[in-house]
Amino acid sequence: MQELKQMIAGAGRIVAFTGAGISAESGIPTYRGSDGVWNKYDPNKYANVNYFFQDPSYYWNFFKEARYSVLKAAEPNAGHKALARLEHAGRLAAVITQNIDGLHQAAGCKNVLELHGNTRTIGCLDCGTDYGIDAVYEQLETELPPKCRQCGGTLKPRVVMFGESLPVDILERATEESGRCDLFISVGSSLVVQPAASMPAIAKRAGASLVIVNQDPTPLDDRADLVIRESASSVLSGAVAQ
Ligand code: APR
Ligand code: ZN
Repeated sequence: MQELKQMIAGAGRIVAFTGAGISAESGIPTYRGSDGVWNKYDPNKYANVNYFFQDPSYYWNFFKEARYSVLKAAEPNAGHKALARLEHAGRLAAVITQNIDGLHQAAGCKNVLELHGNTRTIGCLDCGTDYGIDAVYEQLETELPPKCRQCGGTLKPRVVMFGESLPVDILERATEESGRCDLFISVGSSLVVQPAASMPAIAKRAGASLVIVNQDPTPLDDRADLVIRESASSVLSGAVAQ
């Protein structure tokens, strides 16, 4: 912890990279691990775009049962807030996140690069109309899968599912930020999903120090300069002064 404080104090350009673990303490379950969402819902059915096109009702059932209420109720925790303070102080260049929950922005972070999209809006794949999640959730009471009210087309949240490409502009900016920071802090990610998980390696290759804050081991731990296997919120709030 002392070492992390010193690294933050001495860094010129810091980038944070976050995964589901940073939002776990806001009540949003992670994907992997014993309580993980993908233990209960097979991601090949519930989060794969090819499956979604075969039958979107699987995804929408999952959204109704396991996502909507959890995401609605979640609020930023001390970890999100610490990163926002660091950005506000001009010390954090960007937050690259795999999360779709919007909690970094809710905590006040401005430069958030969402590699996997977000669940704030649900779009019609046919006519492009956007809907808020509340409206679609209501619609789910009587209609599964829900259809576009304008054209009857397929509705899909603006998240990146397995089998889909990441948004090119965001991926480009994230790669650029990773390649020009001197301290890269990965928080709450298992670092197994590509291409997101290549960001720490890009930073490391470009000469940055790599810190991994995660409860469980990750495949990149042996390449990191510092590994802290503790709660994301306590580590970040402890390392970033009020
Ligand atoms: N503090 C720190 N780490 C935590 C905490 C916590 N409070 N709670 C859980 N963790 C760690 C776990 O040890 C786990 O390794 O967070 C990690 C979360 O890993 P995943 O569930 O795999 O989440 P993530 O890395 O974000 O997943 C990447 O997979 O399914 C896709 O699109 C989804 O963006 C997601 C991607
Ligand atoms: Zn439409």
